[in-house]
Amino acid sequence: MINIPSKKTILITAGPTVEPIDPVRFLSNRSTGEMGFALAKAAKRRGYKVVLVSGPTYLTPPKGVKFVRVKRALCMKREAFRFFSRAGCVIMAAAVSDFRPAAVSKTKIKKSSRGALCLRLAKNPDILASMGRKKGRRLLVGFSLETDRPIAHAREKLKSKNLDMIVVNKAGKGLDPFGPGAKDVVVIDRSGRIKPVKSAPKSRIAGLILDHIETL
Ligand code: CTP
Repeated sequence: MINIPSKKTILITAGPTVEPIDPVRFLSNRSTGEMGFALAKAAKRRGYKVVLVSGPTYLTPPKGVKFVRVKRALCMKREAFRFFSRAGCVIMAAAVSDFRPAAVSKTKIKKSSRGALCLRLAKNPDILASMGRKKGRRLLVGFSLETDRPIAHAREKLKSKNLDMIVVNKAGKGLDPFGPGAKDVVVIDRSGRIKPVKSAPKSRIAGLILDHIETL
């Protein structure tokens, strides 16, 4: 517990965001929230104050953690920024939907008389990038999920979002970063240090991420 400025709160986001289309349908992604919840549990165990802002998951929040449940990316942004000023470190493990339906139908969209349905999508704000612009002395940690050139893309995100560290996940070609089980990740920090983590459960990855944050 050394370098998080003034031993402040760690703010962690987790899970997917869900973006409503109509009262019974939504757009989302395959995130299960396991990584963010594992980080919250590990951080709590190390004695940090933890705020966990999560999209919908089936997981039980760790004891002693301030837990805020959200659905849409816009709500995740609002709730995350509610705790941003008191956070010494932010870990954005959430899989935030980049787009949302531009208009949400108040009634169920019917298929009758339609050959096809066009959904217009509006861009969601990039929560982590806005935090990067207001970073101050905080430590900012992001995640990156890519199917191609994962390291190059992650380095770009580290720089463009003004991060201290990024955790790289790869998807596709038989790789499944979602859910439980052993995963491969790569940690890259702002000084360019690269640490590959091979075949580790998310509880262990969470511990290694916190270890690395504490060296920054
Ligand atoms: N993120 C965010 N707000 C968004 C999208 C992403 O805060 N609207 C955060 C994620 O929580 C993650 C990091 O940004 O920590 C990178 O997310 P990722 O989905 O890998 O990449 P994007 O920045 O969304 O870029 P692209 O989808 O073009 O790969």
